[in-house]
Amino acid sequence: MQINEHLSRFFEDRNNEISMRDYINFCLYSKNGFYNSENPFGKSGSFVTSPMISSLFGEIIALFLINLIQENALKSISIVEIGSGNGLLMLDIVRIFEKYRINAEFFSIEKAENNRKNLAKIFENKVKILEKIDDFNGNNPCFFITNELLDSYGVNQYIFKKDRWNMVKLRIEDGKIVQFADNNFDKSELEAYIERFYKNEKTPTVLEISRDQIDDFEHVCRIVNANSGGLIYFDYGYEKSPNTSTLQAILNHEKVNILQNPMQADITHLVNFSVFMQVFRKTVENYSALSCILQGEFLLQNGINELAEIYAKSSKNSDNIDKIRSSVRRLTSEMGDLFKVILGIKL
Ligand SMILES: C[S@@+](CC[C@H](N)C(=O)[O-])C[C@H]1O[C@@H](n2cnc3c(N)ncnc32)[C@H](O)[C@@H]1O
Repeated sequence: MQINEHLSRFFEDRNNEISMRDYINFCLYSKNGFYNSENPFGKSGSFVTSPMISSLFGEIIALFLINLIQENALKSISIVEIGSGNGLLMLDIVRIFEKYRINAEFFSIEKAENNRKNLAKIFENKVKILEKIDDFNGNNPCFFITNELLDSYGVNQYIFKKDRWNMVKLRIEDGKIVQFADNNFDKSELEAYIERFYKNEKTPTVLEISRDQIDDFEHVCRIVNANSGGLIYFDYGYEKSPNTSTLQAILNHEKVNILQNPMQADITHLVNFSVFMQVFRKTVENYSALSCILQGEFLLQNGINELAEIYAKSSKNSDNIDKIRSSVRRLTSEMGDLFKVILGIKL
């Protein structure tokens, strides 16, 4: 394990005791963190996401949106992607909107500075780039799209053991990052979360909480409530808590310990979809649709097989045809069974 000087100083400045959320956020988003590194994405980076597997992913989302826009005769629409990464998904959406001559304003909200610089080059002024959701002023029907955004927020971890809650914290000991349980911590985040989401339900004994993640999602719901539109959030996670730590780190496509390779590995957690469903229900009045279904179901229901076959038929190259079909299998069966999508619409 290498603890670089930036991370050591981060610990030192906080008396060698930090929360899991601060650790994850520093490792991922500080100036020298994972998401500001040269190439975190794709085969040569640490992980591959659905938009990188095939442009069919973004095309199906774009066609789904166009259908909603036309059915509801919507004008002056904003399409907002949060957490664009390398921008492939937004590029596919813009291309399909242009193909069908659907007017919209496109926005990309991306936290990592290095990603924003790269996005500015590839979007060629077709998409406005913003740093955070607070920078977006929506006053038209807005559709928000995210893929693997929620799992990339730093979370605090709390564990109930021997009749009391403990907060997982980290310190450096003998040159290594180690975790320990603190039972004398500020309980405000934990208590507010339990009161809000587990009032009528048994509280799991392991909770992973990101206040920013919930605040940002609620902010998006408020915009949808005020302006109409909707949100489509793809991620991996659960509706019933697995009651265990779900934190994981990936380096060069392999799982590694979350405390090893800090700032080089991606660190994620499984998303608690039931929390976001509750926030949407509470925040968006008179919504027209809300569901949480498998990514595979969404793509199949919206015609990915049919679109893939149109491309396969027009391709003369058999390698290319195999590639199209195998990417559809990956998107709908392998990742399709692992990933879910929250779909919330107010029109
Ligand atoms: C796992 S990557 C996914 C990238 C892309 N959506 C894809 O599917 O390939 C997560 C992205 O979300 C960005 N991100 C994380 N938190 C964010 C936030 N609060 N606002 C905007 N972007 C954020 C990260 O910098 C990173 O680019």
